[in-house]
Amino acid sequence: MDFDFDVVINRVGTQSSKWDTMQAKYGVSPETGIAMWVADMDFTPPPAVNEVVRQAAIHGVHGYFGDDADYRQALIGWMQRRHNWHVQPNWITNAHGLCNAIGICLQAFSAPDDGVIIFSPVYHAFARIIKANGRQIIESPLVVRDGRYHMDLDHLETQLTGNEKILLFCSPHNPGGRVWGKQELTALAAFCDKHDLILISDEVHNDLVFAPAKHTVLANAVPDISHRLVTLVATTKTFNLAGTMIGSMVTADDHLRQKISRVAAAYGTSFNRLGMMMTETAWRTGDAWLDSLLVYLAENRRIFEDGVNQIAGVTAMSLDATYLCWVDFKDTGMISEEFIRRVQSDAEIAANHGASFGTGGESFLRFNIACRRALVHDAVARLQQAFADLQ
Ligand SMILES: Cc1ncc(COP(=O)(O)O)c(C=O)c1O
Repeated sequence: MDFDFDVVINRVGTQSSKWDTMQAKYGVSPETGIAMWVADMDFTPPPAVNEVVRQAAIHGVHGYFGDDADYRQALIGWMQRRHNWHVQPNWITNAHGLCNAIGICLQAFSAPDDGVIIFSPVYHAFARIIKANGRQIIESPLVVRDGRYHMDLDHLETQLTGNEKILLFCSPHNPGGRVWGKQELTALAAFCDKHDLILISDEVHNDLVFAPAKHTVLANAVPDISHRLVTLVATTKTFNLAGTMIGSMVTADDHLRQKISRVAAAYGTSFNRLGMMMTETAWRTGDAWLDSLLVYLAENRRIFEDGVNQIAGVTAMSLDATYLCWVDFKDTGMISEEFIRRVQSDAEIAANHGASFGTGGESFLRFNIACRRALVHDAVARLQQAFADLQ
């Protein structure tokens, strides 16, 4: 079955973070500009997902629900089918999205002032949530080799003080779109074992991977790490359901799960019924839609990467995963204020500033290419024009 990702859907005036706050955040008008920042897509989800919401509205009663068994089975089925990962129903604890899950894990496995390790640059909310919880951030800079990010565990070892309790990992990596290999995951797990760290593997981008790259579930790559591993999963990126604020923490370890449950209970964390129904439907029936989406995004990626790489001094990191194109302006010789001005004021494109992703991100901008193809072509033309004097 084919799905049409080229349909024009106007999101302005829908309380969309991406389109309705771009003027205030980036000074880019939603009428004449292009929103390429926050990580959601401009597409509708699989039709069955919207149908389940329609049916719920027709039924019309929106009371408490008493049972998430079908949701658990849908998660289990998806992970088995798509990732060859065999999850048990009692391994799953639900949260109001993965940022909420990260906050719960930080409180479950560390105390104020404890250290939390992240690989930088990384999804900006990691640092924000760690700071908001009063924990110390240890930034381990990723190293660029052959145009891709690599972890430097030897260097990280020299940074440790003994106060570190958690390593918060992003797999696949945002930004940079890096898919981590089995050997890298094994080395990371051994590092966590050696330094007695709880490993939180945020795998929210696990489905948005471009062949021939393949996501390896950390729990599969290193089964004997299960006593210190919590994996975070959701449909919110895969099926564009970020507004549902739904996500799950998965761990095979009873002791870790009890700690998570205690914190979740302390916050009265429960589940959003409509979001749960949408998520369950997506996981049960969304395979063909996702396969079609990945073909579409792969072509958007090709057009965008090829287009920006033609600009002198501008280099897109080649994405194995995610729809978040990580573009380096370092070799233009411009200070960040200048390339940001050209992108926002001249090209009228709202893109995330690299510095917000931490050390190593300063010369980058992150462009979200999960939009209709015509906008990707338009964005490339605008960027080439805005930097035409460099040719
Ligand atoms: C790595 C990562 N984790 C979590 C999130 C956000 O998760 P949620 O919307 O469920 O809080 C994002 C969003 O971009 C992300 O990139």
